[in-house]
Amino acid sequence: PQKIIIDTDPGQDDAVAILLALASPELEILGLTAVAGNVPLALTEVNARKILELAGRTDIPVFAGCDAPLQRKLVTAEHVHGKTGLDGIDLPAPSMPLQSQHAVDFIIDTLRREPDGTVTLVPIGPLTNIAAAFAKAPDIAARVARIVLMGGAYFEVGNITPAAEFNIYVDPEAAAAVFASGTPITVLPLDATHQALTSRDWVEGMRALPSRCGPAVASWTDFFERFDREKYGSLGAPLHDPCTIAWLIRPDLFEGREINAEIETQGEFTLGMTVADWWRVSGRPANALFIRNLNRDGLFDLLSERIATLP
Ligand code: BDR
Ligand code: CA
Repeated sequence: PQKIIIDTDPGQDDAVAILLALASPELEILGLTAVAGNVPLALTEVNARKILELAGRTDIPVFAGCDAPLQRKLVTAEHVHGKTGLDGIDLPAPSMPLQSQHAVDFIIDTLRREPDGTVTLVPIGPLTNIAAAFAKAPDIAARVARIVLMGGAYFEVGNITPAAEFNIYVDPEAAAAVFASGTPITVLPLDATHQALTSRDWVEGMRALPSRCGPAVASWTDFFERFDREKYGSLGAPLHDPCTIAWLIRPDLFEGREINAEIETQGEFTLGMTVADWWRVSGRPANALFIRNLNRDGLFDLLSERIATLP
């Protein structure tokens, strides 16, 4: 299986991404690294452990990482995810331990220990931990197989400002460093993930599963749907983060282009924008596979089939 580290700020859609990965024999999760994002780090690391306990996978270690962006004050998204970050269902306080090692050091040690080019990083929150690891250990960027991240928006523009998507906006300097790292990157931006909208039937199918995880997914997406319904009038919750895991397992469900994408770190109105050179007019070298479309039915069939295998 492909070895991955999921760097996350759970987050209901992060939770579904983690469950999809746990249910996928193609992937081996070496660890979950928590970052500050949707809610502060003290909550995201607890949420990560709650999700693993729900799935009965306390064998996967959880590490806490950076509690603030590299240079800025943390911006959070309780207006989307609720006070806990994982509102929708009350899960018990986790009893599995948090690892004592810092997430940034876990990322560095893992990349140095595992054979060159065998570990994929899957960041589904702000890119602070990844950029901090690359800054502390510049040798590791070249050892990463690929970074498959949820973040950015170009044609669809922003969800936290008119120009920026949340994960990139929260730590634009970190995002800029990651996009400049030379590591192969797959970007799942809002352009694609806003097509990953849950349907009523799908949610009810999750709720009807004779398991713990199925009904939890239904409760999370019910909560998460509210924001997008009020904001965009869309029916259904966008499952942003699960698109990263789905791309790893079934890249045939996605369409994109190898292009240059740069992160705006200065703009008064465009801070955190992912400037995607879709028509290749800049002459700058490609640094990302920028996904623009996905096969919605294929994605939700995959999710149904996989989540049904969980306890
Ligand atoms: C991203 O921001 C968070 O709110 C979600 O978990 C997702 O990672 C979407 O913009
Ligand atoms: Ca997230």
